[in-house]
Amino acid sequence: MKNEVKVFAPATVANIACGFDIMGFAIDEPGDEVVIRTSGKPGVRITKISGDEGRLPLDAALNTAGKPLLSMVEKFGITCGIEMEIHKKMPLGSGLGSSAASAVAAAFALDRLLELDLPIKELLNFAIEGEQLASGSVHADNVAPCLYGGFVLIRSYEPLDIIKLDVPDELFCSVIHPQIEISTRESREILPSEISLSKAIRQWGNTAALVAGLLKSDYELIGRSLEDVVIEPVRSQLIPGFSDIKRAALESGALGCSISGSGPSVFALSKGAETAGKAGLAMQQSLLKHQLRSELYVSKINLNGPRIIELN
Ligand code: HSE
Repeated sequence: MKNEVKVFAPATVANIACGFDIMGFAIDEPGDEVVIRTSGKPGVRITKISGDEGRLPLDAALNTAGKPLLSMVEKFGITCGIEMEIHKKMPLGSGLGSSAASAVAAAFALDRLLELDLPIKELLNFAIEGEQLASGSVHADNVAPCLYGGFVLIRSYEPLDIIKLDVPDELFCSVIHPQIEISTRESREILPSEISLSKAIRQWGNTAALVAGLLKSDYELIGRSLEDVVIEPVRSQLIPGFSDIKRAALESGALGCSISGSGPSVFALSKGAETAGKAGLAMQQSLLKHQLRSELYVSKINLNGPRIIELN
């Protein structure tokens, strides 16, 4: 039996414009890392957290990555002690699935270290517990793509029904992360609890067409479907210059552009790396006009999900 594992879990873009709470995809970077080791002292302890500016709790029961471990230890009667280091490599409240990445990394790492060999859906349920602690709601559109990799559709939450979708070869994502913070909890609170039938019809038309566009590798259809008439009009008010950023992406040739998760990150999908790079730079430039700097990440859809960096 090994006694230490280091795992990377990727950032994710949730909602993908029209698929609020039911769609997300993983990207190559950024991502979080956790190190998990066994110890002689029973219980789950978080020994170190870096990159969080001292904001995350060391108490495992209150920590997004600690909660899945506590549940796994209890469910499987794990008697050895578990120590964890969490290295946050992406900002909190970024809309890039930061809490999901930590929760997935922890659950995946413990599974691999102790050779539990759990079905992926069971791991997902443990990771969702961590995500729920962070955001106050059960939504799997960050944790599921983070764990499964690729482009993921959640058909149903009860029971959980996850579908991994095909991704066209030349689909690239550009994400900018403006240097402001938006809490998922708060940006969910401002959303309407009901929507009109006409908006619902438009939204589910787009959602269905986005899936069709992915399966047919029809880039134009993907672009037409990246429209959100429900969430974006409300949340975009929290992102300075959002409409300029979106215009800049589309004028650079991106297929579509919207808010990543609960924001403030903004993503665009493009056909080809070159267009994705151009769109990303144009989005950054546009944000600068609003006196805000940002980080830019350009990648293909990450088909792999979490990965082991070291196992000793
Ligand atoms: N679907 C969630 C939301 C994702 O938009 O609130 C949060 O990253």
